[in-house]
Amino acid sequence: MKDQFNRTIEYLRLSITDRCNLRCRYCMPEEGVVEVTHGTILSYEELLAVAAVAARLGVRQIRVTGGEPLVRRGVIDFIRQLAQLPERPEVTMTTNGLRLAEEVEALCAAGLQRVNVSLDTLRPERFMQITRRDGLEQVLAGIRAATVAGLPVKINMVPIASVNDDEIHDFARLAEHHPWDIRFIEYMPFGPELDFPPELRVPADVIIARLRELGPLEPLHKDSAIVGPAHHYRLPGWRGRLGVIPAVSNHFCAACNRLRITADGRIKPCLFEGGEYTLKPALRPQIDPLAIEKLLLGAACAKPERHRINEDDYLPPTRGMHGIGG
Ligand code: 5AD
Ligand code: SF4
Repeated sequence: MKDQFNRTIEYLRLSITDRCNLRCRYCMPEEGVVEVTHGTILSYEELLAVAAVAARLGVRQIRVTGGEPLVRRGVIDFIRQLAQLPERPEVTMTTNGLRLAEEVEALCAAGLQRVNVSLDTLRPERFMQITRRDGLEQVLAGIRAATVAGLPVKINMVPIASVNDDEIHDFARLAEHHPWDIRFIEYMPFGPELDFPPELRVPADVIIARLRELGPLEPLHKDSAIVGPAHHYRLPGWRGRLGVIPAVSNHFCAACNRLRITADGRIKPCLFEGGEYTLKPALRPQIDPLAIEKLLLGAACAKPERHRINEDDYLPPTRGMHGIGG
């Protein structure tokens, strides 16, 4: 599947719920999200039908996201079904890690191939401040359990000035002795639940300057067949890699390879721009693969060349990050 700018769309992010067991201040309001009724969220059968068409159109990686995907019942079976699609897509997950330790064996057995754990601090009191909940130990246990199970782990950290940016070195150093990719994501200040103002974004070049203080950063060529927007680095002798995702400051849009599906069944051509395509007419009352295909191709064609978040007249999407899945 190609878009108008000749980018190959081979990566699908599938949000399976907008609920979460944390309340990160940059993502969720304290009271959680409005209880969505069963009919609003796509069923696993519907999600699978969308994934099946996407795989047929050339999507090679499917990332299951949320909210927090491990809070939705039945997720293990769903992962298994994704992994068993005829095209054998690579199935990955982004999780906050709270329930990872208890689920990791089942996830591996179901065919999950990699996991990204979102973690913004290594300090218990701060974890509570940022996520409004307890749970650092559980997340760390989840990361360890995944590693023991042989599941490759990436840790996503969002540095925010005066909140946790003093932990950039601590996070990076995790890659010295552990085989983990530590990825620093530029804070994307949008969404209705914003608790940290945009000025607190730590730009990618500042993050990279901090990483250079640790030693000679060697940029890595993209070694994955599926390229994405992260820039990767290695420090000599370190086991894991470091990554920086310049979501806002740099235009990484030229490398954009993805479509997103929200839990309520809308295709988002771009994370930063508002346009959405609703899948429901292609799913209800009956699943219609041809109609799904038309919508996916239409959404791919509607991908803008680049986002406009740095421009004066930028209008952010009304949907917060918990409804998109990052
Ligand atoms: N800016 C940057 N990253 C965000 N995430 C969630 N909200 C934001 C935001 N406003 C991250 C999560 C997770 C990934 C899916 O997106 O921390 O790692
Ligand atoms: Fe939950 Fe992730 Fe949002 Fe935090 S950032 S509230 S873990 S969905």
